[in-house]
Amino acid sequence: MATSITVDERHPSLHRTPAGVSDLEAGTLDIAGRTASAVADALAAEPGETVLVGAAGGGVGSILTQLLVRGGVGVIGTGSAASADHIRSLGARPVTYGPALDGEIAAMGVSVAAAADLHGTETAETAIRLGVPRHRVVTIEADGPPAGVVQVNGSDARPDALHRLLALISEGGLRVPVAAVYGLEQFQQAVTHQTSRHVHGKIAITPGR
Ligand SMILES: NC(=O)c1ccc[n+]([C@@H]2O[C@H](COP(=O)([O-])OP(=O)(O)OC[C@H]3O[C@@H](n4cnc5c(N)ncnc54)[C@H](OP(=O)(O)O)[C@@H]3O)[C@@H](O)[C@H]2O)c1
Repeated sequence: MATSITVDERHPSLHRTPAGVSDLEAGTLDIAGRTASAVADALAAEPGETVLVGAAGGGVGSILTQLLVRGGVGVIGTGSAASADHIRSLGARPVTYGPALDGEIAAMGVSVAAAADLHGTETAETAIRLGVPRHRVVTIEADGPPAGVVQVNGSDARPDALHRLLALISEGGLRVPVAAVYGLEQFQQAVTHQTSRHVHGKIAITPGR
């Protein structure tokens, strides 16, 4: 079994952990952060608007929700009932995904201006039924999203996205929720946990446990 790895320190994917940011936050931020950033840019939500975020409590959703809330945007976030407190802690109003979703949102009496779907297509379909124009429905789902919605992924993030997020974290304006930390030898458990798709935030694997 390999016990070490050699990496060129000039590799563009390597970053130093800035002051005010923990290695854990920095290490879990990269792909989820850039994906959340790309979705936020594609949403282009204005302060005072309300955005529906599907899977608001996941790794991408936790970051996206905070970015939107910081920008003065109201967020309605989907999750299971077990995620409601976590979603609320990010600054969003929780709603439960599933068959009652449309009714729960309607009962809030809020006009939804845009939507981000981070899990399947339910949120995008709900948003369209609510009258959100398709060009304001953003998804990271590559597999069969509704026609006419906007598809993005982490590679669409602006080049300085990571640095902007790190600056926000170091000034206390953004947190990366870490649901669990596993040692290298627990790699399989970490993957099983992640693929459950019921994680609140990010999962980390560290050699230092
Ligand atoms: N995490 C990353 O670094 C990353 C980076 C780039 C792209 N992605 C992609 O982005 C998507 C989201 O990934 P993720 O890591 O944020 O989360 P994820 O692991 O895909 O999902 C976790 C979240 O999804 C919620 N969820 C589960 N079933 C749901 C449903 N039927 N409808 C709505 N929400 C549901 C869970 O809430 P409950 O626990 O309450 O059920 C949980 O908060 C995935 O497609 C992933 O491949 C992830």
